[in-house]
Amino acid sequence: MLSGGAGTRLRPITHTSAKQLVPVANKPVLFYGLEAIRDAGITEVGIIVGDTRAEIEAAVGDGSALGIKATYIPQEAPLGLAHCVLIARDFLGDDDFVMYLGDNFIIGGITDLVDEFKRGGADAQILLTKVENPQQFGIAELDDVGRVVRLVEKPKEPKSDLALVGVYMFAPTIHEAVGEIKPSGRGELEITDAIQWLIDNGKDVRPHFVTGYWKDTGRLEDMLECNRKVLESVEPSCRGTIDEVSRIIGRVVIEEGARVERSTVRGPAIIGRGTTIVDSYVGPFTSIYHDCRIEHTEVEHSIVLESTTIVGVSRIEDSLIGKEVEVSPSTAMPRAHRLMLGDHSKVSLA
Ligand code: TTP
Repeated sequence: MLSGGAGTRLRPITHTSAKQLVPVANKPVLFYGLEAIRDAGITEVGIIVGDTRAEIEAAVGDGSALGIKATYIPQEAPLGLAHCVLIARDFLGDDDFVMYLGDNFIIGGITDLVDEFKRGGADAQILLTKVENPQQFGIAELDDVGRVVRLVEKPKEPKSDLALVGVYMFAPTIHEAVGEIKPSGRGELEITDAIQWLIDNGKDVRPHFVTGYWKDTGRLEDMLECNRKVLESVEPSCRGTIDEVSRIIGRVVIEEGARVERSTVRGPAIIGRGTTIVDSYVGPFTSIYHDCRIEHTEVEHSIVLESTTIVGVSRIEDSLIGKEVEVSPSTAMPRAHRLMLGDHSKVSLA
């Protein structure tokens, strides 16, 4: 499970936090992946960690709460996906394994894929899905009989619209491939180069087509889209308190100890444990994580991380707000926006 990386596309959140821990419907995106791995019958999980190691370890622990046994494998810098295989050599031994990108999100799990690989005797199995903008992905080209012949990173003139999804299955032959390749132009050991080495050396690389929903959550828009997808099918429930004048409409989850007062929550939405929503409107496709305070505010189609306070803002949309953020009205004169924003923050004022 790859949970290091730089996460440049999700700055400033990733200046201080792991992108794999950004919650989708109030559960870290990483946990969905770990559960998919566990559901496929794999319980020994090596987690590649970088600068955010402490945070990932605090969230996953020994893995027992998720039904896995976690081993942490530190990576000194994000030197590429194939570098992750290289440094996991001892952990992996001569076993077949799944490599799962910790920020990837798949609905429907990976059990079928793992079962297919177990039956097949291939050297590698890659997951492919049709995309509309192949220029932005690693792309696989297949021959007439459906064998993988070429992998190209972000091709300018794509010959195929089949993108690589961030889940790979490998037999131990990949270790030889990873040892043979050189860093790419961007200085990373590319997994596409390692798989291309397998192909060029007559190894059996098989495609598996994903028909369900898949997303690389590396950017804000993708994070919001995943959140939308998951919220669309959450089971409504209430373990918090809602006063008599508040209105809860549609699919809404109110977690333990959350309070909704004089407010409207229009689902699909989730309000985290210990969070209070007062004199506010929480609109569709919104996840508010635990221990937040939302007052005199309207928020919709957004993700708010833990322990954040938002008071007197009308209205927030399409936003990802970090943890322990404070947004409040300014009473001091002259009236002005007073900001203390982290590097690479993005603010769009109405
Ligand atoms: P990417 O999203 O490809 O890379 P990144 O995390 O550096 O993000 P950005 O492009 O926004 O800068 O990485 C996919 C997953 O693999 C992600 O969960 C991070 C992880 N990863 C590692 O653990 N080690 C690495 O060397 C790299 C490149 C990625």
